Formats: sequence, structure tokens, C-alpha cells
Amino acid sequence: MSVEFDVDHRLWLLRTRESAYAFRLDEADRVRHVHWGPPLTLEQATQITPLPNPVGSSFDEPFDDRPELATEGGAFFGVAGLSVRFADGTQAVEWAYAGHDTQDGLCVRLRDRHYPLEAELHYRVRGEAVERHTVLRNTGTEPICLLRTDSAAWTLPRRGDYRISHTAGAWSAEAGLLRENLPTGETTLTSRRGVSSHQANPWLMLDDGTATETRGEVWSTALAWSGSWRITVERSHTGRVTWTGGFGHEGVQWRLEPGETWETPVFAGLYTADGFGGASRKWHAYVRDFVQPHPEELRPVVYNSWEATGWDVDEPGQLRLAAIAAEAGAELFVVDDGWFGARTGDTAGLGDWTVNRDRFPAGLGPLVAEVHRLGMGFGLWVEPEMVNPDSELYRQHPDWVLAMAHRGRTTLRNQLVLDFGRPEVADWAYKWLHRLVADHGIDYLKWDMNRAFTEAGRPGDGDPGRVWVEHVRAVHGVLDRLRADHPALRIQACAGGGGRTDLGILARTDEIWTSDNTDAFDRVKIQHGFSQVLPAGVMAAWVTDSPNPLTGREAPLEFRFHVAMAGVLGLGGALTKWTADELRRAAELVALYKEIRPVVQHGTAYRLADPAVSPLTAVQYVLGDDVVVLFARRPHDHGRPIVTPVLQGLDPAAIYHEVGTGAVHHGAVLLAHGLPITLTGDGAASALVRLRREPR
Ligand code: GLA
Repeated sequence: MSVEFDVDHRLWLLRTRESAYAFRLDEADRVRHVHWGPPLTLEQATQITPLPNPVGSSFDEPFDDRPELATEGGAFFGVAGLSVRFADGTQAVEWAYAGHDTQDGLCVRLRDRHYPLEAELHYRVRGEAVERHTVLRNTGTEPICLLRTDSAAWTLPRRGDYRISHTAGAWSAEAGLLRENLPTGETTLTSRRGVSSHQANPWLMLDDGTATETRGEVWSTALAWSGSWRITVERSHTGRVTWTGGFGHEGVQWRLEPGETWETPVFAGLYTADGFGGASRKWHAYVRDFVQPHPEELRPVVYNSWEATGWDVDEPGQLRLAAIAAEAGAELFVVDDGWFGARTGDTAGLGDWTVNRDRFPAGLGPLVAEVHRLGMGFGLWVEPEMVNPDSELYRQHPDWVLAMAHRGRTTLRNQLVLDFGRPEVADWAYKWLHRLVADHGIDYLKWDMNRAFTEAGRPGDGDPGRVWVEHVRAVHGVLDRLRADHPALRIQACAGGGGRTDLGILARTDEIWTSDNTDAFDRVKIQHGFSQVLPAGVMAAWVTDSPNPLTGREAPLEFRFHVAMAGVLGLGGALTKWTADELRRAAELVALYKEIRPVVQHGTAYRLADPAVSPLTAVQYVLGDDVVVLFARRPHDHGRPIVTPVLQGLDPAAIYHEVGTGAVHHGAVLLAHGLPITLTGDGAASALVRLRREPR
């Protein structure tokens, strides 16, 4: 990685292929942001000088440059990303520079001039991203109270205006993309739910209001954390924009004990001049190259029984589904909720991870063997972090759940959250998971998490804020251990759909259950939001029944397939009720998906139209000479014009022939006019077009 240091200016420069990032130490050893944007040389970066605050006064800071990680103290009035209180009540930090090294990225060391606190600001270039995190150390003999410990702050160059892109949503309505003017003042995006959440997702993009999907400067960051988090964006009265973010939400505090080290999660950022699509492609490349455990693999076509059977899971029913799923081309068969304990609904049994013998009289063995015989992998649903109060586990260990003294225990979906931060709880979970996987030859787990934290404490513990962080670290830890012990095991991350969609969980799972909403019309928008940062190769998408069980809407089979084929295709319908014709067509489409799968899952993605604006959307994937375009037109008003999107990322000088029809297209024409597709009627319609570039 490229790190350069200018001794005279005390300035560091990090370079990616298409961007540069610079910061410096000022005279008081405060770490000041200098540049994040287009490539610069070290010499060029040293010429950027801080501007005096436009209106000098005794109510403002003298200079309008921003800290790399703001602390309280001095004439700084923005959001402190690092806020600590020492034992004597002092709540300001004064840093002294203590050196830097470049052994593993760049580490800038700081220590407080008086108090026993050390900090390390870490930077690492990975692909087009700059990864940052912070490490704190208490070198004294008394605890230090940590009020806020963000991973990093990010600052934009001055622009005339600013716009923020992020997602908002809910259970079964995840990843709704918003692109809105950034107000002056402070805008906080956050989750207080213990997971990264359906409601907001820990990434954002900023631009000056003029960027489009294909053009313009975009600055974006994503936090690798699977628990509650907070990012505060400040657009100051001087027109500067900085955001600071990290784990924990407001009011959560921690006590840093003498000798203890506190490490924050990675907050990664990247700059592009190629619009929002360019930003997404850089994120996708980063996720594949540096986050996913097995990016080289192709994800299998999963059949999952949840929408087909709900909790009515038993051996004969699953065997029937498995036979049809195998015929349809499924490669992995997943038994969802309801196979264990007294779990015949959502009121009992969660926590009792032994096979329900009423439903599987001979255990899971015969089903696993048959699924394997049919040539499919076998997967199982688990929800290790949860317990129903009506369970053997809770009767034995009522103290294992998150709780507060003299407070109620709020149930959501009739369940409580196990306190994974306790070593004995995480150890219990690891042991039964390990045994389950080993004893049954399980190839895949769907790891679910179905409720937000409430009363998130630990009675008798003097530092209860820790549960927010320790829980997530322990979940990550159990996943890491399981994977290490079972290298062939693959894991899907799920939290009531996409409630835990983040770079932290993706570092230790293989795909994400995007949403419990499998209605293809809604999925177009959910997938559009999901794709802003995450690649199609981790976006699980099932084809389910029509009418959709959740929304009641009907959609043609091909439409449902074409929408799901833009991600990791799976099947989730009640296949026993499908007609022979539907099953035959499904098998053909699954077979087709297997042909295009490398392009979709490993290719470069282009979003050709915005579903918020156009009923006709299309996503395009390019891998080498192969191109796949998936069109989905939702029902629309009769007689209204619909724009055919132009293709992107092609070679204008090349000829592309259409696989199947043999039609020939010039790259330049596809880039200027798009594909001449005809979708009849005003209802749902879709198309899949495959192109191959001809050798010159
Ligand atoms: C969550 C998941 C669903 C399903 C159910 C089972 O809602 O998101 O896919 O697994 O739990 O209870």
C-alpha cells in the first residue's frame, strides 16, 4: 500500500489508483483532515492550506479545517467522535504525537498530554477503499469513562451544496433508497436495536447535488458493524461537511479499565468521480476482494421451505418438497424454523436445539441422507441468540437473557435475547452448533435473529453498556469458530430478512437473506437499495408463490424469476401446489440461471434505471465478454411513455451477438439507444437478454 509522509508539513498521503487521502498534524499535534478526492501527489497535498473561518469571532474556531477524529477540548464545537471522561471529571483531550508506523497500513500514535490515555488512528488502503479504525488504551490505574468512541470522521472538500444518499426501511421493506438535500445542522443515522437494522443501514453517500448514476463525484463510507451504531453528519454554518461514526448509540457508555485496550470496528470510505453507479461498483469490488470469505465461489440455488410450510415442518412434508426442489434444479435444501424442541409456532421451544421427535421420529438423519442422495446440500435454520420464555433453556437459565434489575422483560415475537456477551452463553451456543453441524453433516446454516434488544443490561454488572458491543463481538466470534472448525460450512445471515446487513456480518457469512418480502414488485426496489453497497453475489432472492403470501399480489412466473435472477436465485414457494407446467418452466429458468450465474454473481453491475422513477428497470452484469441484462417492468399507467434504458460499460467499438437469437448489436448503438426489447401490455412483464462480445 502506498503511504507517503512529508516530514516538514507533518502530512501523510494515502493513495488508491483513483483517489488520494491526506491529513496532517497541526502545531498543537491535532490530527487535521487535508484531502479526500481525486489523486494528488505528496507535494500537491502539502499546498492545501487551512482557510481561516470566514467570520472570525470569539464564538467560533479560528480555522475551518476538520479533525480526523474530533475530541472535546479547545475551540472545537462540532460533534466529538471521541468523548471520554477521566476519573477527576475532565472531559477534554489534548493529544501529543507519539509517532507513526506503516507495518500494517498506517498507524498514527497519540497520547494525552496529561492523562493515561493513548490512541492509535489506523488507516489501510484496500483496493479503492481506505479502511479506518481507532484503538484506545488506558495506561493508568483508574477507569476511564468512554462516552463515544467513533471509528473515524470523514470530511468533504468544500462544495456549493450537498446531498445525502442512504436507506430507510422496516421489516419486509428494507433498503429504501433516499437521496435528499443535506440540511445545515446535524443529521444522525442510527440503530438502537442491537443489529445494524432494517430501519437504517450503516452506510451513506454524499455528493454536491449534481452526481447521477453515471457521472459526478461521490464520497461514501460504510461501517463494518452488526450491532447498534451511529453516524452523525454535520453540515456546518460555514458550509463544511464532516461525518463521524462508530458503534453504540447515544447514551451508551463503557468503562475502560486500567491496562485495557478498546478497538473500534472498521469504517471504510471511498471516493469516485463516476457517479453512484461507480461508487457501488467500487464497493462491490471491495466486498469481493477484501470482505467475503469465499468470493471465488458461486452461490448454490437454495430451496427453503419457510413460505411453503411455515411451522408445519415434518419428515414426510420435507421429503416431498425435497424431491420436487431437486427436480427443479435446487442445489441446497434448507429446512427452516420448526424442526426442534416444542417449536410448533413462535410461542415456545426457541432455545431447545434438539430435533423434534414427533416431527422427525428418527431424527434428521433420514432427511439429510435423502437430500444428499438427491444431489443437494442440506441446510438448517437456527436462531442461536434467542429464547422463548416457554422453553427448557429459559427454565434452566432465566439469568442468561439481557435484562435490567426491577424492570420487565419485554418480549417481541414472544422471545428474549440471550446475553451472548457472557462467555458461558456464547460457549453453549458454539457447542450445540458445532455438534449439530458435525452430527448431521450440515452444509449450510441460515443464522437468524428476530428481535430488537430491549432492557439491554446485565443485572449486577457495573458496566452494562458493554452488552451492546460484547454481544456482537461474541456472535462474530461464534461464527468465526464454527467456520474454522467446519471449513465447508456456508452460512446465510438473516435477521428477520435484511435486519443485519453490514460489512461486519459479511466478513463471516456467505450471503444475506435480503428481505422476508419476496413480492417481486417490491423486490425491485429493495434490491436497488441493497445494491448500492453490496454485490449481487451476496443478495439471496427466492422465487415464491403467486399471489405472494405477504402482499397478496400476483406476478407472472417469469417476472418473479427474472427479478430473483438478478441476485442469488433461490426457490421458496409451495412447490407441491405448482402445476406441472409451472414446475417445468421453473426448471428451465433455474437451468438458465446456472448458465448466467457467474456473470450475475461475479460480474460488474450496472443499474440501468431507477425504480423510484421508472416502472421499467433493468440491471446489467458484465463479466469478460459476457453480458446479462434483466428487465423488469412493473404495472404502469396506460399510454404513458416508458424510457428504454441504454446499456453501460460496453466496448463501443465491439460487436455483441445475442445468445439464443443470434441478433447482432454494435456496442456503440447499445450504449446510445439500448436494446430493442418489446414488453407487451401494461401489466408486469420482464425479459432476460444475454450478449456475448465477438472477438475482434
Ligand atoms: C424470520 C426469517 C424468515 C423465517 C422466519 C422463521 O422471519 O426472516 O425467513 O426464517 O424467521 O421463524
